[in-house]
Amino acid sequence: MVDVEGLRIVLADTTTQRFHAGTMQRAGGQIIEAAADATRLDIPTFVTAHHYPMPLSVPHFWPPGLPAQEAEPFFSRLAQACTPTGAARPSAFYTSGHTHRHRLYQRSGIVCTEVGSPKDYPGTWAGYIVYETGITQVVRRVGAPDVLGWTDFSGGAAMGLWRLWSPGLRSHRCFHHCWNPGN
Ligand SMILES: [Fe+2]
Repeated sequence: MVDVEGLRIVLADTTTQRFHAGTMQRAGGQIIEAAADATRLDIPTFVTAHHYPMPLSVPHFWPPGLPAQEAEPFFSRLAQACTPTGAARPSAFYTSGHTHRHRLYQRSGIVCTEVGSPKDYPGTWAGYIVYETGITQVVRRVGAPDVLGWTDFSGGAAMGLWRLWSPGLRSHRCFHHCWNPGN
């Protein structure tokens, strides 16, 4: 856990031995506690973990993330812990990797992102700008010419489908999220 000005950052280990799927069994309780404490201090919580929440209890694409039967109660508890009294929605952000693609969605009202990998097409990383009223995610592409040669080549994986699957929408990569509407 790291506190910076205006944000509590919680880093969680969701890995499992020998399996691709993740788990919140070890880290979940501590994340909720840290988030509840941040809410008492009037600070939003940014959770970063390796695994994304799966919408289903069984994987429907590769690689699998947090099974829905774990993810749903976790996000529901996190949302409860991160919603200040009278607020319209939780002051929390969850970001993960693992899929090496870019996506934006919500779980229990918490904004969630998946961010790509510097080594696979399109070869990216995400930066965050924190404001009192919200947070901005900006995804940037690694731009060194010798690296671009590799990342362009890697876009040909899965018969070229990777080039279509990985980038996602620009609005899923770069966006601003207000902690509470109207801010
Ligand atoms: Fe992974």
